[in-house]
Formats: sequence, structure tokens, C-alpha cells
Amino acid sequence: MTAHSPSYRVGPGGSLLGTVRVPGDKSISHRAVMLGAIANGVTRITGLLEGEDVLATLGAFRAMGVTARGPRDGGLEIRGAGLHGLCAPAAPLDMGNSGTAMRLMAGLLAGQAFDSELVGDASLSRRPMARVIEPLRAMGACVEGGAGGRPPLRITGGQRLRGIDYRMPVASAQVKSALLLAGLYASGATAVTEPAPTRDHTERMLGAFGRPVTREAGTVRLLESGGALSACPVDVPADISSAAFFLVGASIAPGSELRLTGVGVNPTRTGIIDVLRRMGADIRIDQPRESGGEPVADLVVRHAPLRGIEIPPALVPLSIDEFPAIMVAAACAEGETVLSGAGELRVKESDRIAAIAGGLAALGVSVEERADGLRVRGGRVSGGVVDSFGDHRIAMAFAIAALRAEGPVTVMDTRNVATSFPGFPALARRAGLAIEVAA
Ligand code: S3P
Repeated sequence: MTAHSPSYRVGPGGSLLGTVRVPGDKSISHRAVMLGAIANGVTRITGLLEGEDVLATLGAFRAMGVTARGPRDGGLEIRGAGLHGLCAPAAPLDMGNSGTAMRLMAGLLAGQAFDSELVGDASLSRRPMARVIEPLRAMGACVEGGAGGRPPLRITGGQRLRGIDYRMPVASAQVKSALLLAGLYASGATAVTEPAPTRDHTERMLGAFGRPVTREAGTVRLLESGGALSACPVDVPADISSAAFFLVGASIAPGSELRLTGVGVNPTRTGIIDVLRRMGADIRIDQPRESGGEPVADLVVRHAPLRGIEIPPALVPLSIDEFPAIMVAAACAEGETVLSGAGELRVKESDRIAAIAGGLAALGVSVEERADGLRVRGGRVSGGVVDSFGDHRIAMAFAIAALRAEGPVTVMDTRNVATSFPGFPALARRAGLAIEVAA
């Protein structure tokens, strides 16, 4: 996997200026493709993220007989097969680097009449799948994992699913979504209770496709109706998880002022804004509007001196993908930042607690790695060589750190940036980052 993985060479200093639109939201793009593929009618998507993860999901549905035009410039037209119109794939479905794709697809495939197998790359093959296997089995699904409950997943079709009332032990939008998708094929209602709110894109989009879910005191419920999904246009907002690198970059780099346009600001995703503001960041939410059932706004961010904070536990699930960037902000802040209750970061695309600690230490930052978090003492950031461990978000976060570094930063193994942010180096360069890609 690391063969032919380019590195970034990023010159120190500079500021971020101008107006930037980051690519489409990955979570919403996956869901739009999935619901479009099993809806009745043609779903027209705009703003789709054409990253490798989403293309893998689309490829999986094409392998199951779904026809689609595109993607091109973020546009995709999917002719839905209906809930029961998918065909057996001839080969295992490759979900690439994406835990979201594998876990959501496990739920969707559990309700099909045919057998299927889900595989992934080296990183995905190390990630825990028992969290979906167990509740899906409780619904009557037949799902087998590999050693230790890891991929590949083998799903035997033709099972009768029944709705369950499931209390999730970890706050996971992926598990919640997998069960709601399986619930589309189940008798009875499917209810999922979350220990803390997580992203609700599946719920919103199911409503837009004609299968509303209810939410009451932390429990999301999909009623049995046997009803089909109806195709519906989806306009995907820019991904706040990709905007995160620019929010941090402009906050830490003196002289910066950046407008990020059309960013999704669903309250289950905006933890990064709350965390950075608590640290003293100057972020303005401009022109809030709604698009396709999701709140969207421009984010205007200016340089501001940051101070270290204790990150409130309630904000952890709401900024779970943004900690690589947030910890770079912590390294540039005055005082100490403490993150705890974030053990989930150990089972993302890499062990992000270890990867962040290793990267910060390589840049001379004082950091303590803990079982479920990190303690970072802000101050000087030196140049150095950082291993991204093949993790897209680690790679982009440390590229941004160069804005405050005293020497050049080299980030190794950046191939997977294309899973979520194709064109990151070019866009970042245009905004003012001195980034070069070295083969
Ligand atoms: C996602 C949910 C989160 C997040 C991931 C995308 C989703 O994972 O980390 O990048 O699209 O549902 P968990 O549900 O495992 O926390």
C-alpha cells in the first residue's frame, strides 16, 4: 500500500487567504449513492465527493447491476434498482479504505436475497466489525467476519430480518446507519439508542427519500412500513471535515483570512467550530441556509492567538474526525490542551492517537499519549519528517502544521488523501500553503 505513495514537502510559514470551496461531504456522498441505488426512480446528485472511497461505493452498486451516469464535476445520476432490485455481484465488493462504506453496506446487504462479500485495503482490514456484526445477527442477519471480527465480511442473503431495539455501546453513526439500512428490510420497527448524539445524515436522507425516522430522547426509530424509497435530488455540501484543515490553518497562521464556501454545518458535525472557538479562534458563520435537508453556511476564519483547553467530552463525537487538525491547533496554542474519552481514535484509518503523538513529537512538540486521548503542550513547532501511517487526515493535518513550523515539514505516505480530498495540494497551494508533492 505504501508503494508509490507520494510525500508532501511543505515550506514553513505563510498565511491562508481568499475564498476556497473544499470537496463534497464524504458521509453524505456515501449515503446519497446508497439510498439512490435502492430507491425507485432517478436520483440526481450534485456536489458529490469524487474521492476514492465514494467511487468504491458507486463501483459496488454498479457491480450489483445499478446504472449511473457520471460522476462528472460532482454530478451523478443514479437509476435506482428499488429495494429488491440489486443483483448478486460476481466478485467480492472492495470498499477500499472506508469503514463507513463497509459498515453501512453490511446493513444494506444483510437484507438482500443474494450472498455477498465485503473486502477492503490493509487499513480497513484491521478495523473492528463486530460492532455491526453482532446487532445485525440479532436482527436475524447471517454475517461472518474474519479473524477477530475484522474484514472480510461474508453475508449470506435470503434471511428474514426483524427490527430490534438496540442500545449502542459506542457512539457510532456507522453502526446506527447500518442498522437503519437493515431496518428497511426488516419486519417491525428498528430502534437505535445512542450514548451521545452522532451525525444524523442517514436519518435526514431517509426522510427526504420518503422513509422518515423519529427521534426521541436519544433513540432513533425507523417504523416498519414496507414502503419503498423514492428518488430525490441530493445537493451535497462541502465537507466540514475537509474544511477543518483550513479552519486550523487560517487560525494558526498570522495574516490569514479565508472564506470557506457552502460548508455543511449540521450541528452533529460542528464540534470543530466549538472547540476552536473555545481556544480563541475567530470563526464567523456567514449566510446560513439550508440545502437538501442539511444546514449549510460560509465559514469566515481569521488568524487569532489560540490557548489550550480541556476538550469537553460532549464535543468528542461531534468532532471525531477533526482531532488530527485540532491537535495541530493545540500545538500552536499557548498552554496545555487535553483530550480524553476519545479511545475510538485508535480504530480509525490509523491509530490516530499514536499517529498524532508521533507526528507532534517529530516536530518537537511536547505531547503525552494516553489510552483514550492526548495531552499537548503548545509552543514552538520545528520542521521535521512526519509519518502519516497512510491516513488521509493525519497527512493533511501535518501539512497544515508547516504554516507555523520553523523549518520545512515532510509528510510521508500521502496517497490516501485522495480518499477524501482529491486535489488537496493544489487547493492548499492556491490558498497560500507552500506545498509540493514529491513522488
Ligand atoms: C462516519 C462516522 C464516523 C466517522 C467516519 C464517518 C459516517 O465513524 O469517524 O469518518 O459517515 O457515518 P463512527 O461512526 O465509527 O464514529
